[in-house]
Amino acid sequence: MQPWIKRTALAAGVLAAVITGSLGATILVSDSKMQRTVHIPSHPIALKNDADSIARGRYLYQTKGCADCHGNDGGGHVFVDDPETGMRVSGANISGSSQSRVFRYQADDWDRTIRHGVKPDGTPLIFMPSEDFARLSDPDLEDLVAYVRQLPAVNTQPAQWQLPLPVRVLYALGVVQDSAAKIDHSLPPQPAIPAAVTVEYGEYLAQSCKGCHGPHLTGGAIPGAPPAWPAAADLTPGEQGALMHYPDVESFRAMLRSGRRPDGSAISNVMPFAALAQMNDTDSAALFLYLKTLPPVVASNR
Ligand code: HEC
Ligand code: HEC
Repeated sequence: MQPWIKRTALAAGVLAAVITGSLGATILVSDSKMQRTVHIPSHPIALKNDADSIARGRYLYQTKGCADCHGNDGGGHVFVDDPETGMRVSGANISGSSQSRVFRYQADDWDRTIRHGVKPDGTPLIFMPSEDFARLSDPDLEDLVAYVRQLPAVNTQPAQWQLPLPVRVLYALGVVQDSAAKIDHSLPPQPAIPAAVTVEYGEYLAQSCKGCHGPHLTGGAIPGAPPAWPAAADLTPGEQGALMHYPDVESFRAMLRSGRRPDGSAISNVMPFAALAQMNDTDSAALFLYLKTLPPVVASNR
């Protein structure tokens, strides 16, 4: 063998060892992150079962996207199926079944999972976007739970929750974070805000847009998303922002209900239209009012 070939082979071997070594280490880091314990002080919620709470809870279950991932029946629904990365994820079974994850839930476990992204055993949830629900008020959380708790038993195959290797590397490096890492667990629960066409209530509703559209709703690539997903739109009323397409609340509401822009073009169904289409007139008007008050993005503050 020519010496230079030997040297190259050796170099390649060393490089391969370094890569596999660090990949192994990366996987260990990602595993230990997934198995870490996050302590959430107990905050039991009132467990309700009156008809009004269940009705409001059903509305929240539909419009907050719970149904998109957990299915209308709570049995779990596949919401990522990406042949490119082999990533296939479904929501957990949260129905009344004895196989359901919530079967043995105590009154404080609902707060822990839904608002903090932490399972009853203290380990973080990985896929569930709890940061979108972290600022739900106690009354809304209680109504939501009243609805979930009365879902009849559905028995489903236990779901598989595996992060594809590239995402695990990003997770280990902290580029992609789980919800529990993103949520400020020290904040007291959001006080109840009356459902009305106000900027305040619109801001409350927009909490569940931030997981994708970013903490300031300025849009951009969604961290950890499959490569096929488009970047989320800028929702500020700046010139480059998508809000420019919507001169009035009617056009905004029509977009939420149809998944199309005023020019008829389709918006990616990464936007949770199944949920947003069911938003009532008060909610869509409050959201629109709030988005219009955001500081517009200009090149310098992006
Ligand atoms: C984008 C998809 C998605 C949305 C939206 C979503 N979930 Fe989940 N949820 C999941 C997945 C996936 C899991 C289980 C695995 C994980 O995340 O680690 C889960 C787990 C849960 C669990 C069980 C946690 C446990 O293991 O003890 C509960 C309870 C739950 N979700 C309730 C809700 C409710 C209520 C909503 C709506 C406010 C909701 N989820 C919205 C995907 C979602
Ligand atoms: C699961 C991620 C996700 C969530 C949650 C989400 N969006 Fe989006 N949204 C997107 C993506 C991705 C796009 C870009 C779609 C495209 O380019 O086709 C988008 C686009 C938009 C647009 C631009 C439409 C246009 O005219 O081009 C608006 C407006 C919008 N979202 C509003 C919202 C609001 C309001 C919420 C919360 C109530 C929300 N989105 C929640 C992912 C999301």
